[in-house]
Amino acid sequence: VIKTRHLLDLDNADRTFIEALISRARQFKAGVANEGTRLRGSTILGMFFEPSTRTTISFQIAAQRLGAAWVDFRADGSSLAKGESLEDTMRTVRATGVDAVVVRHGEAGFPHALARYFEGSVLNAGDGAHAHPTQGLLDAMTLVEEFGDLTGRRLVVSGDIRHSRVARSSAQAAALLGAKVTLCGPPLLLPQRTPGWGFAELATDLDSVLPQADAVMLLRIQKERGTGDEMPPPDDLARSYGLNIARARLLAAHAIIMHPGPVNRGVELEAQLVTSAQSRIERQVENGVFVRMACLERYLGTSARERVA
Ligand code: CP
Repeated sequence: VIKTRHLLDLDNADRTFIEALISRARQFKAGVANEGTRLRGSTILGMFFEPSTRTTISFQIAAQRLGAAWVDFRADGSSLAKGESLEDTMRTVRATGVDAVVVRHGEAGFPHALARYFEGSVLNAGDGAHAHPTQGLLDAMTLVEEFGDLTGRRLVVSGDIRHSRVARSSAQAAALLGAKVTLCGPPLLLPQRTPGWGFAELATDLDSVLPQADAVMLLRIQKERGTGDEMPPPDDLARSYGLNIARARLLAAHAIIMHPGPVNRGVELEAQLVTSAQSRIERQVENGVFVRMACLERYLGTSARERVA
């Protein structure tokens, strides 16, 4: 992930990579002179085959703030629907002068397929239940803003872990910065091996892990992905692995509440907690703009250099 021109996941990321992007994002947040010239002349294509609010808007704003042009690909109105192959579509996209593609798709691995056919940069904005790397980075930035050094801090991620691309990317980024991660959910929605994904502790009882949490991240029930026998009834999942006001009292006073959004109020998170003093949900969204500026600058900068070379 570090040496390529694509941001597909955080599987091969290291601490230096995460820290560099967060540091740059924090610079953008504090204000960078001439930010609007950083990517002037670049063109970014947004290819969103699944719904999105936060990721689409923040990528668009990030592109605009850096001076890049943003063009939307109309998935349902494209020539893919007329039988054009993905390879030919991506060659066509490149021929029009697009420098980078930001892609969301319901199928895990779809951005990797695009990257095979596209000579510019591909940034994954969420693929199936696989990865959402910029969400992982913005969550890590939010934790760093809150706690500074994450060494020894504990992030608890609760709910439908199995079908969540956010859980994996956010846990990876936090762990790379030294945080301890606990994945909490029913056994069939947790990784099957301990430690989970090679680094995370696993738990099935949320009440027992909340008192040790510095941050708790609730997950939406991924109804669009989890339709199999592994899914408990949504009410049971929400009752056991969601956060309500009574359960939030188990948290330490300094602990923060996170959610990647969109939130189903009253399901995985009681409505009052969304905007409570402990909530950092809006901060996560705010940080998404700056993290995406840092990512676009890094990856478009790379492809621009390669074009010159
Ligand atoms: N967190 C996230 O990816 O939100 P959107 O689906 O609204 O982009």
